[in-house]
Order: sequence, then structure tokens, then C-alpha cells
Amino acid sequence: MGWRGMLGFDYGIVQAPLGPDISGPELVAAVANAGALGLLRAPDWEAPDHVRELIMKTRSLTDKPFGIGVVLAFPHKENLRVILDEQVAVLQLYWGECTEEIVNEAHKAGVKVVPQVGSIEEVKKATDAGADAIILQGREAGGHVISQESMISLVPRAIDIVQGRNIPIIAAGGIVDERGYVSALALGAQGIALGTRFLATDESYAHPTYKRKLIEYSTTEYTDVFGRARWPGAPHRVLKTPFFMDWRNLPSDVNEAAQPIIGHATIHGVDKEIRRFAGTVPNATATGDLESMVMYAGEGVGLIKEILPADEVVRRLVEGARRMIHERLTDDSSV
Ligand SMILES: Cc1cc2nc3c(=O)[nH]c(=O)nc-3n(C[C@H](O)[C@H](O)[C@H](O)COP(=O)(O)O)c2cc1C
Repeated sequence: MGWRGMLGFDYGIVQAPLGPDISGPELVAAVANAGALGLLRAPDWEAPDHVRELIMKTRSLTDKPFGIGVVLAFPHKENLRVILDEQVAVLQLYWGECTEEIVNEAHKAGVKVVPQVGSIEEVKKATDAGADAIILQGREAGGHVISQESMISLVPRAIDIVQGRNIPIIAAGGIVDERGYVSALALGAQGIALGTRFLATDESYAHPTYKRKLIEYSTTEYTDVFGRARWPGAPHRVLKTPFFMDWRNLPSDVNEAAQPIIGHATIHGVDKEIRRFAGTVPNATATGDLESMVMYAGEGVGLIKEILPADEVVRRLVEGARRMIHERLTDDSSV
């Protein structure tokens, strides 16, 4: 049964890594304590001491296993060394190649490797590289979106590819409650990864204004307006805030580089300026014109009605899925 565990965790529920520092130790520990897989997010620059601090802080809040996400498009070798040295349970990879070399190094350290990909081609590559599980992102997803297709078409095809190989497929994109969970299971997934739902929790490091907007707005758009200079060619899904709607047709030659500074934030211990059209969501330390900062969210955001404790999110998913499978999807005639 899919709602049972995978990769050694009690449940097949993954809290996606949330950049730049939104999934910090508090959120990850709360998710881990609830029996699901919580993922920290490594900085987009080499900061091995800080990565170690994140891991230690999380370990001070939970004795359960957890993981950390690395975006391969940015410098990461030193960070990776510390992650393997600290032997976190899971290394999640995104936006870059999950090579056999990385997988072998991780396995030597006893770390499982779980890349997030967005196409069948990438599922094949990750499978051949020896990944322990694969997060398959659909175009519905919030944040940066590597996929061009919806989950409903991607997941069953991925299942056919990994058949017989014991590589769980974890569906990501637009899942918020047990209905999304059970539909992913019906497609053949063994687990689900949720970003936006865990963003809207007490423990996430998002600014309260950002959390409030996740409840206030219910629609999103796939765009490339934000962060074009720093992370080119990386489309993303955002809330349709008034700022975004004013600028959604931004000419393609404009990017954040020469724009005015609209705020500041401390990110992974470093003070940063935030320019207009930057790809940086407001974290809890952000000051300035928050309403004009990017706010990533997935297509399921309209289902989010309240900010919840992270363990409550896990509990509702597990109990809801169990109830739904029992009450609606069991064939009574066979009982
Ligand atoms: C605020 C935010 C930040 C994200 N940052 C990352 C990241 O750093 N690394 C990553 O692999 N995925 C990141 N994602 C994407 C998630 O891994 C996942 O694919 C997505 O959240 C799933 O869709 P959902 O938000 O509808 O649940 C982010 C998503 C959001 C909403």
C-alpha cells in the first residue's frame, strides 16, 4: 500500500526542499518527527560550515532521519562533501545531472540519492545512474519547474520504466490533500512530494506575509519573469499577485540585474539585497516591499485554507488517504 513507508520512512510523504532557506531545521525536524521525509535546502553557494550547522541544528530537534536538497546548477562540491561526511539519510538533487559518480560516492557514505526530474528521458537516466528513488515533478508544481507535462501523463509512464527495479516514483506538483495523494497512488506512485502545502505551515521559514498570500490567492501562472540573470532558462510557477499581474509581460531583455533594490533578507546567514524581479521569495527576515517579491506556489494553492503545523499536514494526509481508500475505493462486493 502506497501510503505506507518507503526508503525506511514511516510514510511515503516527502516535504520538498524549499529554496533558498524556507525548509530549515524547524520544518524538517517537525516533518521527520511526524514520520515523513523532510528535506533541508543547501545554499546556492559553497558554505560547508553552514551546511554542517543546518544538519546539526536539525539533529538537535529530531532523532529521526532526514535529508537535504542540492541544486546542481549552482556551486555545490564543498557542500556535497559535508553532506556525505555527515551521512544524512537522503541527498535530493535538482536541476543538473544525477551522475553515477555522485550516486556511488553517496552510497559509499550510506546516503540514499533521490533526484527530482521532469521528463521520461530523465527518469531513464536517473534509473541508469542508480538513484534510490525518483521525484517526478509535473508542470503543476510550485517553484522552479523542470517539467513540461502534467503528472497524470508522466507518472504511469515512469512506473513502466522502473518496473521490477525497486525504485519508488514520488509524484510532485499540485498535491495538497488526501485527494491528490490517493490520485498519485492510483497512477502508480509510491510516494508524494509536497512543496506549497509545507510552505504554508507554522514551521516554514517563509515570511508571514507570503504565508498569508498563499491563503488569499488561489491561482498561479507558469512564467519566466523572475531571476532571469541569476538562474537563466529556469521557468517557475508563481502566485498571481497584483505585482506579478502588472509585470507578467515583462520584455524578454529585462532582468533583475539593473533594477532597484526593493528589500533585504538574511539568507543562510548572509545579508542579501533583493532587487525587483529577483527570484528570491521573502523569508522570515525579509524587509522592504514584500508585495513585489516573487511568491512561488503550485497549482493546488487554492486548496490551502489555513496555516497548519507540519505534523498536522502529515497526519491529515495519512489518515485522509487511509479513510478514502477504505470508504471510496474498496470493492465491497469482494468483502
Ligand atoms: C517556495 C518553493 C521553493 C522551492 N525550492 C526548491 C528547491 O530548492 N529545490 C527543489 O528541488 N525543488 C524546489 N521546489 C519545488 C519542489 O521540489 C516541488 O517540485 C514542488 O513544490 C511540488 O509542487 P507543489 O508546490 O505544488 O507541491 C520549490 C517549491 C516551492 C513552492
